Amino acid sequence: MAKLNIIIAPDPVLKTKARKVEKVDDRIRKLMDDMLETMYAAPGVGLAAPQVGVLERVIVLDVAGKDEEPRPMRLVNPEIVWASEDLAVAQEGCLSIPEQWADVTRPAAVKVRYLDENGTQREVEADGLLAVCLQHEIDHLDGVLFVDHLSPLKRNMIMRKLAKWKKSQAA
Ligand code: NI
Repeated sequence: MAKLNIIIAPDPVLKTKARKVEKVDDRIRKLMDDMLETMYAAPGVGLAAPQVGVLERVIVLDVAGKDEEPRPMRLVNPEIVWASEDLAVAQEGCLSIPEQWADVTRPAAVKVRYLDENGTQREVEADGLLAVCLQHEIDHLDGVLFVDHLSPLKRNMIMRKLAKWKKSQAA
């Protein structure tokens, strides 16, 4: 396994729609292992392939609590096939937008269809943190960041703070 570099916003790669994976092979399995290692090291609860510069529809996540056994999830070509009318507000952050958080409103529950690491089609129904995380990561595959769900005013504020943070890291 290898740790990958996480792309920080703003970056055109993060705004680009990722392409479908044609075949779940060793290359994709290695990518998902590397993404999980990168996510755990960050640390974070989810990571999408575009965040490591790979424009393919692959996400990994693990929403297990600190005192729980890890529950890594690997999803290829994930697709939201149902979303609840009920909405929920949750605070979100992103490894591509470090040190920034904001409340985002999304459907409270979703059903996601995907291919697992063996290429088998599966479905997962989720609410709570997993639902938030799945929607956030699938957004990344369409070039959408959590700040894109905010008002322009709020988004600009976060992007300005991020630019400042980037400068302070470079100094
Ligand atoms: Ni993110």
